Amino acid sequence: MTGLDEPTFYNEEEPQPAPGAKESHAMFRIVQTLAAATTIALAGYATAAEPIENYELVEPLPAPDAPAAATSVYPAADVERGRYLVDLLGCGSCHTDGALIGAPNSARLLAGSRVGIATSDPLEKSNPGVVYPSNLTPDKKTGLGDWTLDQIVTMLQSGTNRHGVQALPVMPWMTYSRMHAEDAQAIAMYLKSIPPVEHKVPANVRPGQRATAPYIHFGVYRSKL
Ligand code: HEC
Repeated sequence: MTGLDEPTFYNEEEPQPAPGAKESHAMFRIVQTLAAATTIALAGYATAAEPIENYELVEPLPAPDAPAAATSVYPAADVERGRYLVDLLGCGSCHTDGALIGAPNSARLLAGSRVGIATSDPLEKSNPGVVYPSNLTPDKKTGLGDWTLDQIVTMLQSGTNRHGVQALPVMPWMTYSRMHAEDAQAIAMYLKSIPPVEHKVPANVRPGQRATAPYIHFGVYRSKL
């Protein structure tokens, strides 16, 4: 697996972080813990040096319902179960545009988020790394159109994408890795059956680089007492 010191999950064409820029590994762990059960999120466009000034509190709404499947080549019972699991596991709370800031766009259900998620601590570092939840609809150009069922299952179970690159722990694949294979298959069949939506999400941003699309911070802080 790729170590967190080698952030190959960022697009290779993006500029490198400033020399000496260092990830906050602790924050990765915090994000990982919170990914499944977000309580508080801060939203902002600005760099993170002064969280109180540059951020505002957002109160995310429950994720919108997962979209209905179109006519599918896969068994209807599996597709329906996949939809149920996607609803249950809250995939849309990240992967639906706007959902992370409580303003889900119903024309872009599961079609990727232009609001990203910061991967470093706003109290420690301005210009955090940012990841943007991908388009999960079967659009060929911007979504999972070219992914096989097995590739989607592998992503859910191991966090490795079809290019063999480890996703950041922001995507809670560590939790999903406990899923039964048939459930992961059902999710994959459902995602391949929903209507394709063409929507390109912004490229992930390396720590130290300035994001040009908004992002939120998941965060809970432990008292030092
Ligand atoms: C807490 C937010 C969050 C939740 C919840 C979430 N994801 Fe993700 N997901 C992400 C992010 C962020 C990425 C991009 C990861 C990266 O670039 O390293 C991603 C990437 C993916 C990818 C890879 C797509 C690609 O084009 O590379 C798939 C497939 C995926 N998620 C499926 C799901 C499914 C299915 C669920 C629900 C069972 C889900 N995700 C829940 C945040 C989330």
